[in-house]
Amino acid sequence: MRNLIDINMLNDGIARKLLQTAKFYKSSGRGLLEGAPLLGRTLAMIFEKPSTRTRISFEVAMTELGGSAIYLDAKSMQMGRGETIADTAKVLGRYLDGIMIRASKHETLLEMAKHSKIPVINGLTDNSHPCQILADIMTFEEKLGDIENKTIAWVGDGNNMANSWIHASKIFNFKLRLACPSVRLPDENIINWAKDNGADIEIMNDPIEACKDSNAILTDTWVSMGDENTVNPEKIFNNFQVNDKLFAVAADDAIFMHCLPAHRGQEVTSEIIDGPRSVVWDEAENRLHIQKAILSWAIADKLI
Ligand code: CP
Ligand code: NVA
Repeated sequence: MRNLIDINMLNDGIARKLLQTAKFYKSSGRGLLEGAPLLGRTLAMIFEKPSTRTRISFEVAMTELGGSAIYLDAKSMQMGRGETIADTAKVLGRYLDGIMIRASKHETLLEMAKHSKIPVINGLTDNSHPCQILADIMTFEEKLGDIENKTIAWVGDGNNMANSWIHASKIFNFKLRLACPSVRLPDENIINWAKDNGADIEIMNDPIEACKDSNAILTDTWVSMGDENTVNPEKIFNNFQVNDKLFAVAADDAIFMHCLPAHRGQEVTSEIIDGPRSVVWDEAENRLHIQKAILSWAIADKLI
């Protein structure tokens, strides 16, 4: 089954091929893609949490590939009042060609994938956000070339994005330094997976140390959707704002990345996110091109 649960589960160089396919789709321009590879195909997009980029980029991607997408707010489905994930998955497979789900709990995604006979795509969970990371790597490489052996610095919460960057560091062979408060470290199982698999990751407390000579500085919101554990974020993340001081120690051409939505004055200053180092709008755009690649692979087994 061609599911996208996490990047580290993609084999046979699929992650790299998804990037190549996305590049081709980007160069093909907007509008209906010639040959309409997903003509007559339908994607369900189930959301247990809010979304702007993920929802719109998946829906537009389906349209431009010749198919269509149905937006489903989980609360308005029977799932929202107790129908099991297993039963939901079995029923959806009778109508649809793929399911993209943004789930509060990662287990919901895994349960959906376990019972689904059609591909299931992770549109973000509390544990990971693989579609975003693929768009981010595509963006990094557009700006600074092959990410292999480059140094990437993560500053802030050890959240779903940080976890997926750890997965990516192994798959795409780059050095990843994560500066996180000791009470907000990335998932221990993912750290152990990275170490067992020889990923080049370092976890530390000091953002300056993490950013020294780095090619990109990354951050994300201090409080993720559904995160009820982080009280007093200003206190916990006091030292973890991406600002000029961090860029002063990074490589001269280092870029700033953020999956958005952002909170200016918290995890990043306006000067940085709205300044010349920032590539956040390209990251957001590349979600569309990457979704097309993911969908044409998962639903039609097509990669360029
Ligand atoms: N970056 C991202 O996934 O954005 P949305 O929450 O708007 O989908
Ligand atoms: N870490 C953030 C990412 C949003 C796209 C969250 O989960 O809310």
